[in-house]
Amino acid sequence: MIIDVTTDAPHALDLACDLLSKGKVIAVPTETVYGLAADAFNPLAVRRIFQMKGRPAHNPLICHCADIGMARTIAEFNADSMRLAEALWPGPLTMVLPKRSGATLPSETTAGLATVAIRIPTGYTQKLIGRYGRPLAAPSANLSGRVTATSATHVANDFPDLDLILNDGPSRVGIESTIVKVDRDGCRLLRPGGLSCEVISEITGLAVLPPAPTSTVLAPGMLASHYAPSALVRPNATSVEPGEAYIGFGQASVPGLERAIASFNLSIDGRLEEAAANLYATLKLADNTGASVISVAPIPSSGLGLAINDRFCRAAAPRK
Ligand code: TXA
Ligand code: MG
Repeated sequence: MIIDVTTDAPHALDLACDLLSKGKVIAVPTETVYGLAADAFNPLAVRRIFQMKGRPAHNPLICHCADIGMARTIAEFNADSMRLAEALWPGPLTMVLPKRSGATLPSETTAGLATVAIRIPTGYTQKLIGRYGRPLAAPSANLSGRVTATSATHVANDFPDLDLILNDGPSRVGIESTIVKVDRDGCRLLRPGGLSCEVISEITGLAVLPPAPTSTVLAPGMLASHYAPSALVRPNATSVEPGEAYIGFGQASVPGLERAIASFNLSIDGRLEEAAANLYATLKLADNTGASVISVAPIPSSGLGLAINDRFCRAAAPRK
């Protein structure tokens, strides 16, 4: 069932809390993307999320909290992580932190790691978690490896049998949160996302270090193939081949556009925020044309462009 939270908010809150306390999985709107949420402390409910998504059990979930007090019940903060939390939460930032000793989070949620990923989302879902009183484990609400959901309809297409989808319209940011790992070595980027490294540094004065090149995969969302539509994806396209669906950015004209079977634009004005917000819905529309290849214009890699290019590269990566 889909409930519109802009017109039926109090009823939706009660229903959502009731389902969560019974161990059900529900879809929640966040400013980044839609999530598939369950009580982070309920191992059976969390296991159900993995089954529904077809997600490998070694890929841990983000625990969404209502406030820093709730976050501190499951994670240890140091001076840097507290600074980031106070400056940037609620918002599109996830921090990977040491799990608090004694926190009884089930290994289903953390994939047995000694760290836990935490985010405080903005808006309706922050309110819901506050009312529920416990953290919600929530991955993005898409089948594992496929294109992320940024609307209630996207969620319903992937999961038609969900008990509840809370609809708060299209996700404002449109791309997943930025994930950083914060420890005594500083703040390291694990996944570029909806908050640019430039803005994180500007607001907090902390440097965001690039991902450690030699490390094993720390955020499994960084695995090569991800966010994949049915069509093949051809990023950085400077021309269009016959029969392709084309996704443009800005106003530059591209040779061969008349040969495309359909064309879209992430942002006519060349604005990266607008492009991020349109990214996944456009990728789904381009895929629905039935084209076997989606070509994508070059996109600058500064600011949110880093995350947008990351997603197109993974969408283009060879699949198993
Ligand atoms: O914006 C978002 O982050 C959305 C919304 C719903 O909050 N959530 C999201 O979740 O994108 P998901 O599961 O699709 O991606 C979470 C990423 C995964 O790549 C996972 O491996 C990583 O976070 N992660 C979770 N716990 C971790 C940990 N302890 N260490 C490193 N990476 C972790
Ligand atoms: Mg995801």
